Amino acid sequence: MHTFKPYEWMQAGTLTGGDDKVKTLLGIVASPRKYGNCELFLKELYLNLPQDAWSLRLIRLSELNIQPCLGCYQCLFGEMKCVQRDDLQLFLDALVSADAVAVAVPTYFLGANASLKRLLDRGLSFYAHLNTLWGKPAVGAAIAGVPGLEGYTKLIVDSFLKLTLTDHRGSEVVYGALPGEIFLDGVAKAAAARLAEALCGGGSEEAGSAPRCPVCGGDTFRFLPETSPRPDGAVAVRCMLCSSAGTLKAADGRIQISTRPSEHPLFLTREDAERHLEWLRGMKEAFFVRHKELKAVVQAYTAIGEWIRPENRTR
Ligand SMILES: Cc1cc2nc3c(=O)[nH]c(=O)nc-3n(C[C@H](O)[C@H](O)[C@H](O)COP(=O)(O)O)c2cc1C
Repeated sequence: MHTFKPYEWMQAGTLTGGDDKVKTLLGIVASPRKYGNCELFLKELYLNLPQDAWSLRLIRLSELNIQPCLGCYQCLFGEMKCVQRDDLQLFLDALVSADAVAVAVPTYFLGANASLKRLLDRGLSFYAHLNTLWGKPAVGAAIAGVPGLEGYTKLIVDSFLKLTLTDHRGSEVVYGALPGEIFLDGVAKAAAARLAEALCGGGSEEAGSAPRCPVCGGDTFRFLPETSPRPDGAVAVRCMLCSSAGTLKAADGRIQISTRPSEHPLFLTREDAERHLEWLRGMKEAFFVRHKELKAVVQAYTAIGEWIRPENRTR
C-alpha cells in the first residue's frame, strides 16, 4: 500500500488540480479468496504504476451486501438512487472517487464469479454518475485455473468495463489455479505490466493479437443463422460486447471481421449512453400507454403453475 510522506501530503493537497496530485487506483477483487490470484494480480498491476503518483484502494465484492436488482427502474428517475439499502452506494462512492479502475475476476464454471455479474446487474445506477465515469481509465483481468477453460469470463470483464461507462483500456486472460500460481512464470506479471501501462497511457494490446470487432475492440462473436451461403464465403456474426453485426471471412491468410454499429448502441459514445438512458426512461411512459394491452397478455398467465417457495414466504 502506498504510504504518504508529509511532503507528498502537501503535494497531494495542493489545489492545482494538475498531475502532482496522488491518484487513486480502485482495485475491484471479484474473488472471495483472500490473497488469491485476483488480489495478487491487482496488487502487481498497482506496483507497475509510478509509486509516487498512485495509491491503491481495494474492494472485495464478496464482502459487500449487493442485493439482486429488483428491475423497478426507480434509479433512473428523481434522485437517481436505488431504492435498496445495501452496499451499492459504498461501491459507487469508491468507483466515482477513483482516478482509475482495475477489476480481476476468477473463472467459476466457465464464467465470471457471480459477485461481478450481481454488481453489474445493478448497473442502471451507473447512469447517475455518467459525467464522472465517462473517460475514467479502466482495465480488467479474467483469471482461470486451467489454460483454455476461461469460458466467457473475459466477455463479462469487458462488458463490466464498458457498462460502468468507463474508458476500457485493456483486458487480459491469465491462468493459475492455486493461490499465487499465476506468478510462478512471467506471463501474468507481463500482463499486469501491460495493463498498468494502458491505464497510464492509452490502449493495450494483449500478447499476440486476436481478430477484433472493428467497432469496439471486442473479441467474442456469435455466428448468426443465415438462409443461404454468401459467394465470398463470409459468415454473419455479431460482436457480443457492443452488439454490432457484420461478417467474418478468411482472406489473404487472415481472418477479416467487418462490423457496423447496431441501431441501439449502448456505450460506443457518450451520446449513445445518454440516448439509451432516455430510451429507458421513455419505457415508463410506453408502459402506461400500453398498460391495458400488456395487462391482457399477462392476465392469461397469472394462475398457471405451482410456485415452490421457502416456508412462510410470499411474493
Ligand atoms: C467453484 C469454482 C469453479 C471454478 N471453475 C473454473 C472453470 O470453469 N475454469 C477454470 O479454468 N478455472 C476454474 N476455477 C479455478 C479458478 O478460476 C482459479 O483457481 C483462480 O485462480 C481463482 O482465483 P482466486 O485465487 O483469486 O480466487 C474454479 C474455481 C472454483 C472455486
